Amino acid sequence: MKGEARTLEIINKIREHRENEKQLEWRGTFKEYLELVKEYPHIAQTSHSRVYNMIKDAGVVERDNQKMYKFFGDDIFGLEESLEKLVEEYFHSAARRLDVKKRILMLMGPVSGGKSTIVTMLKRGLEQYTRTDAGAVYAIEGCPMHEDPLHLIPPHLREDFYEEYGISVEGHLSPLNMMRLEKEYNGNIEDVMVERIFFSEDKRIGVGTFSPSDPKSQDIADLTGSIDFSTIAEYGSESDPRAYRFDGELNKANRGIMEFQEMLKCDEKFLWHLLSLSEEGNFKAGRFALISADELIVAHTNEAEYKAFINNKKNEALHSRIIVMNIPYNLKVTEEERIYEKMIDKSDMANVHIAPHALRTAAIFSILTRLKEPKNQSVDLVKKMKLYDGEELEGFKEQDVEELKKEYQDEGMDGIDPRYVINRISSAIIRKDVQSINALDVLRSLKDGLDQHASISDEDKERYLDFIAAARKEYDEAAKKEVQKAFVYSYEESAKTLMDNYLDNVEAYCNKNKIKDPLTGEEMSPDEKLMRSIEEQIGISENAKRAFREEILIRISAYARKGKKFDYNSHERLREAIQQKLFADLKDVVKITTSTKTPDESQLKKINEVIARLIDEHGYNSVSANELLRYVGSLLNR
Ligand SMILES: Nc1ncnc2c1ncn2[C@@H]1O[C@H](COP(=O)(O)OP(=O)(O)O)[C@@H](O)[C@H]1O
Ligand SMILES: [Mg+2]
Repeated sequence: MKGEARTLEIINKIREHRENEKQLEWRGTFKEYLELVKEYPHIAQTSHSRVYNMIKDAGVVERDNQKMYKFFGDDIFGLEESLEKLVEEYFHSAARRLDVKKRILMLMGPVSGGKSTIVTMLKRGLEQYTRTDAGAVYAIEGCPMHEDPLHLIPPHLREDFYEEYGISVEGHLSPLNMMRLEKEYNGNIEDVMVERIFFSEDKRIGVGTFSPSDPKSQDIADLTGSIDFSTIAEYGSESDPRAYRFDGELNKANRGIMEFQEMLKCDEKFLWHLLSLSEEGNFKAGRFALISADELIVAHTNEAEYKAFINNKKNEALHSRIIVMNIPYNLKVTEEERIYEKMIDKSDMANVHIAPHALRTAAIFSILTRLKEPKNQSVDLVKKMKLYDGEELEGFKEQDVEELKKEYQDEGMDGIDPRYVINRISSAIIRKDVQSINALDVLRSLKDGLDQHASISDEDKERYLDFIAAARKEYDEAAKKEVQKAFVYSYEESAKTLMDNYLDNVEAYCNKNKIKDPLTGEEMSPDEKLMRSIEEQIGISENAKRAFREEILIRISAYARKGKKFDYNSHERLREAIQQKLFADLKDVVKITTSTKTPDESQLKKINEVIARLIDEHGYNSVSANELLRYVGSLLNR
């Protein structure tokens, strides 16, 4: 497309967007609004209820008794249990007007564990949701606090209203709208103009963020608004609500959500406002009667800060007004990998080649630092890590995983955070000066970083070094497998040859025959050594070998009777034994081919084949594939 055409396209899109927004607009009298409420009662829901419905409407799937919310699905990984608790125990209960609504929501968890991300998703989500039918919100027109129009219903009529509409109205009309009702509408409630509003943090509608600055200089006005001295002369008095600017964060976030950053670092006087707001649904501003507000307040903190707060007697009254939800680190390797992928996609490293297993290896390290030592003696930390990630390990059942999880209530509240890992990956890239890094580069960088990490104690450092070694071990296994697989594929033929050979021997063994050497025609006894070397791969003992061999012969004749061909895939365990034997045999080929400094022609051909396969089928580039081969070569020669 030419530049001009592209500009035109963008302009058209902007116009379209504007027209869509226009379509959503609504303006009418309070009387008309009531008709709307009659038809669509959900437009009058509380802020908590709207947040809950937003999450629910995005879709919930249940798997293995675990709810998963699509709302969080694209950005938060591995925190299903915590999110279910948060949504059910807080949002759902609060939506039903239960007591939890009266408490400030406090997300508590370790640094970079996703708390801010969750809050941001709620904020951005609400902005979108209020642009849908299900999430529509209406307010008294021109009100700086976007006051709920239902506040116009006089208290003595609210019972009747409830009878008729099934909606209980909480909160009373603000001093400003009370005055406007008199002055602009002559007290005629039904004429008061109502409009549909669309949340937008940028425009300060329904979404706000409060972050404390220096506690000594910070003004409560940031939270609750302030007198507008320039208009006092016009209105004659400081207590005229028109001379007040309702532009604090609490005012602006009314009907929606306010994020309270660093709440526990805040001066107490700020917290008391919140208390009354959450508990009574109102707060005090200027010289006015209490102002009703309906908003979800969400704060976040780490464990240490929270404990200090709890231990301070002065804060006692606040404790019971806060509901704490744990947001621990993710504890699943596979999900941790996804976190890194997401963070890298969003960073300036997005076009760097990251070799397969690099992120997984880093994830293994991180998860190990977060897990607590199992009390169950038969499980070590690496096994626990695998079980948590849903791997099936021999001798363990699903029940065992549940038992492990129950051993600790507060797992995942410390350890290495995702941002640290991303920083180390980034510095590995800078140091290597190649647009390609592998698992070893990452591990090395993680290790180097431990010295610079201020908050790691010497004791932890020792443990972490062990975890780096453990992650390295896992990587070594994966690397060897990957290379062997790449070799084996070209050996598909040899798998078949090996099996045919095995079957000939088995047949002779069972029928007490000799077999003929294909070359010399010489008669020989069955090759016991060959048969055993294959059977041992899947743990068939000397005593069990006869039964196994006979079973195979029976299978072959059953196949023959049905006119089917017995091949490589016809007997699962046999196939596995052959594959493993091949791997074991290949070890030498791989070892020699990968480590030779002066490959001959056929070795060179093999190497190129393997590298091509690593690139085409396994996600490597030529740098990382060569690095992998060299590394596996050195491993096999140890
Ligand atoms: N469980 C997780 N799922 C997805 N991303 C995560 C998760 N935990 C941390 N992150 C990512 O790590 C980074 C730091 O998270 P952040 O939300 O700022 O943490 P916090 O506010 O708890 O310190 C963000 O890029 C975030 O997306
Ligand atoms: Mg944060």
